[in-house]
Amino acid sequence: MALSAQEKKLRAAEAALRFIESGSVLGVGTGSTVNALIDILGPWKNSVRGAVSSSEASSTRLRTLGIPVLDLNEVDDLDVYIDGADEANPSRELIKGGGAALTREKILAAAARRFICIVDDSKLVNVLGRFPLPVEVIPMARAYVSRELARLGGRAAWRHGTVTDNGNHILDVHDLAITEPRVLENAINQLAGVVTVGLFAARPADVLIVGTDEGVRTV
Ligand code: A5P
Repeated sequence: MALSAQEKKLRAAEAALRFIESGSVLGVGTGSTVNALIDILGPWKNSVRGAVSSSEASSTRLRTLGIPVLDLNEVDDLDVYIDGADEANPSRELIKGGGAALTREKILAAAARRFICIVDDSKLVNVLGRFPLPVEVIPMARAYVSRELARLGGRAAWRHGTVTDNGNHILDVHDLAITEPRVLENAINQLAGVVTVGLFAARPADVLIVGTDEGVRTV
């Protein structure tokens, strides 16, 4: 049976529920797949201590459901962080940031003992880079960073009109075939003015749950 992308996202979200432990603090990401997760979190609202979220949008959605939204500074490491991705490879390395929340997402991934990534099967690739790689930059460094990204083989396009929750700009880098994700993540992180690159390779997902027509597949 052919499922829509949204139905596949819901299947992946449902499969992630088993990683939520009673009494835990949950990390929650951003995007339509995570929205599907938040919408089915109702039965957990009294058993989790609360959630730390990667965006104002997700925080609002969590509060609407009655789940306390906590400040990362006021909790220990997160037990589990659940988020979507724009692309994933078989090593569970990811491109994230299509929703411009990449910096907070990277912080949550770093602070989480387990990072569960939920996607529909359209997000799977063998080589990352078909999806333009988001890079959050300090606004004054935008043109400089674009030139440096060209030296690394990418064509950076400014995502006009987008200001991140941190007050910064996003460059989307096209034309990359990312055969060495960790190397490129490190190189872009070193550029002055870069806040975060949306490559999650040094800290990949621990579990990748893929929604497909045939059900969910766990990598
Ligand atoms: C947010 O900045 C992104 O990293 C999201 O995780 C990503 O864009 C996935 O979004 P969807 O779940 O809407 O596909």
